[in-house]
Amino acid sequence: MSNDGVPKTYPALPHLPAHVGIIMDGNGRWARQRGLPRLAGHRAGVENLRRVLNAAVKFGVPIITLYAFSTENWRRPKEEVDGLLDLLREALDKEVDKLHHNGVQLRHIGDLTPLSDDLKASIRHAVELTKHNDRLIANIAFNYGGRDEIVRAVRSIITEGLPAEAITDEVVAAHLDTAGLPDPDLIIRTSGEMRLSNFLLWQAAYAEFYVTPILWPDFGEEAFYEALRSFAGRKRRFGALDEA
Ligand code: FPP
Repeated sequence: MSNDGVPKTYPALPHLPAHVGIIMDGNGRWARQRGLPRLAGHRAGVENLRRVLNAAVKFGVPIITLYAFSTENWRRPKEEVDGLLDLLREALDKEVDKLHHNGVQLRHIGDLTPLSDDLKASIRHAVELTKHNDRLIANIAFNYGGRDEIVRAVRSIITEGLPAEAITDEVVAAHLDTAGLPDPDLIIRTSGEMRLSNFLLWQAAYAEFYVTPILWPDFGEEAFYEALRSFAGRKRRFGALDEA
């Protein structure tokens, strides 16, 4: 949306990523710059989540995976962890019906085990309610870690009793939380850090990486388009040579 409230249009891009992963970083710095508590930054981050989901629908990105809480984020002060859990609960309560109405299919990746029963129930309700929607698949990575996901996949493969020679890339991928979805073509990280931070370790093998200094609460529609424009200009070789 431009400043005058008129929806902004953007030139069509020659190709779009089928799946975009986003590491939503910089909420704390955004808050500090304004003399606000860190949780105010996370709250602004949730607001921005809505803008970016709308932008994904507008641009025609079919799948988006958002890194909301990592398996390492439990190490933050209890007040911040509790605040993030509350924000997720609040966002689910307030936003799910609207997202459902807009054709968004919500999914969760990560380990639900340590979450409270009511939060698990809210997540399961959102996933169940929206499971037939097909305008946008939005994966929320909450208590997600790439290594933890691979460990859980290996455990389930062993539990199923698969013989060693049956293990292929496809078998491993089919036991990850993202089973059935294409790998991300583009991973965006806001706030300038150049790390993957345990995000989609297996799936990111050939993802294009885009880092912007913009802090997550300020990463709006135009910034998202800029990332998509950068992606559209990249040459991907997947380990091979350029075609003659
Ligand atoms: C990184 O900012 C952000 C997070 C750890 C959480 C991301 C969470 C949101 C966008 C909102 C929560 C979403 C849901 C659905 C609950 P940071 O705190 O690391 O920022 P800093 O590096 O500037 O301190």
